[in-house]
Amino acid sequence: MDQLLVALDVESGARALQLADQLRGVVGGYKIGKRLFTLEGPPIVRALTERGDRVFLDLKFHDIPNTVAAAIAAAASLGVWMVNVHASGGRRMMEAARDAARESAAREDRPAPLVIGVTVLTSMNAEALAEVGVDRPVAEQVRRLSRLARDAGLDGVVASPQEIGLIREDCGPAFSIVTPGIRGGTAVVSGRDDQERTMSAREAILAGASYIVVGRPIVGAADPRAAAQRISSEC
Ligand code: C5P
Repeated sequence: MDQLLVALDVESGARALQLADQLRGVVGGYKIGKRLFTLEGPPIVRALTERGDRVFLDLKFHDIPNTVAAAIAAAASLGVWMVNVHASGGRRMMEAARDAARESAAREDRPAPLVIGVTVLTSMNAEALAEVGVDRPVAEQVRRLSRLARDAGLDGVVASPQEIGLIREDCGPAFSIVTPGIRGGTAVVSGRDDQERTMSAREAILAGASYIVVGRPIVGAADPRAAAQRISSEC
């Protein structure tokens, strides 16, 4: 299923490539996060993009516009399909990211990566927001940053399952919503789990998610390919 992105949250590039080989054809792409990228760097990204895989480089850039633009251009030259930035970096930073994605891809004659905004980290509640000077409910801040991301020309946002509805309503059908926190239905993990406020893959797609990001229910399964197939068919 094209909308199913697998978080390759593993300890080595070798394991990531092994998983990607098992899952190819069943899933829509692979998310590489800070741990795998810090351990293995650009070669793991290139290894996947050169195999024709879609890579979501989840490094959540947040810096001055010029620095973020340069980082986005570097990501585009690795051939990534999706990359993200913190929407709280502001309109100018997001516009610079969007322009860099388009310009560097055009220079290299490849499609521009999708640039996605991160609104409010799901680890933050109203109290944590207040501590950094944001005195409004989490949902309102998510709404505000999603609109800002759309107005700055980003392709979409990362959103928890609970936020899909309000963002879809505000930002329209063409805006991409990328949703982690998928549990239940056929997405199960054995043992302790830290995800709260979850939805099943099917519920998230029905609520309006454009893409779902699933990690442990697939990468931690005894048979990752079968787990991915079950999640796709549920949707
Ligand atoms: O293993 P699991 O399915 O929980 O993986 C979800 C992935 O999405 C992880 O890489 C996690 O870091 C990421 N993520 C998340 N919640 C967010 C943002 C990102 O779970 N709010």
